[in-house]
Amino acid sequence: MPCTAPDRIAEITIRSAVRGEETRIASFQAESLRMLACGAYTPAVIDQFIADVGTMPADLISSGRLFVLESQGEIVATGGWCWRQANGEPTSHRPAPNDDADDPEQVSVRRGNDGTVAEITAIYVDPIYTRTGLASWLLGSLEADIARTGINTVRIAATLNGLPLCQRNGYRPYRIMSLRLSSGAAFATIGLVKSVETSGQSGGVRAPHHRHAHA
Ligand SMILES: CC(C)(COP(=O)(O)OP(=O)(O)OC[C@H]1O[C@@H](n2cnc3c(N)ncnc32)[C@H](O)[C@@H]1OP(=O)(O)O)[C@@H](O)C(=O)NCCC(=O)NCCS
Repeated sequence: MPCTAPDRIAEITIRSAVRGEETRIASFQAESLRMLACGAYTPAVIDQFIADVGTMPADLISSGRLFVLESQGEIVATGGWCWRQANGEPTSHRPAPNDDADDPEQVSVRRGNDGTVAEITAIYVDPIYTRTGLASWLLGSLEADIARTGINTVRIAATLNGLPLCQRNGYRPYRIMSLRLSSGAAFATIGLVKSVETSGQSGGVRAPHHRHAHA
């Protein structure tokens, strides 16, 4: 009997992406976006977005914060996170936690003492595995990884098709962003924010079935 995606979840392993596999990962991500975002953007806009912006921040793999879920050596999902300055620009700087009562998003937050926040990015799922909970599992694991740094403000710049996933996982939309592509077309995304529980626990990001096994 052929295996279904849920059957294979027990076989899924997770690892950090490593330098040298940028092309393979970017190609997986581009295919996921083309197939799963086509209800929200035209194929031309998706292709232009990939050409202009790419599917993930340039230094995500070298930062060690891009994670790859695999089944039998095949990539089935990716997800990572990075630091962002208060103005949304990328930074490699790891801030010291600081309570911030003046947060513009009106949530109880702990940001970096310079306003730095964590942003979850590069969430892509193999279309065969969609709606099996992989992205939700990744969000939870990445949030736990971020929380261990002592920062609890997590942002996502979601694709329009990614909005239900983020809202289902407790993210609150706070702005619509429109990126002007080189073709002149607009690529709209939604800025979302969530305040997560901080914890001093360590242990890294583990595969989905490990979480269930210990639940
Ligand atoms: C968006 C994406 C990451 C969702 O991944 P996923 O693994 O299918 O998401 P999950 O299985 O964890 O979904 C959890 C819940 O989110 C909501 N959700 C997820 N995808 C949805 C969709 N396409 N339409 C409506 N609701 C959706 C549902 O409530 C779902 O629960 P349910 O399946 O029990 O109804 C995936 O479709 C994808 O890779 N898209 C292309 C890349 C992309 O746009 N990435 C940016 C995401 S911000």
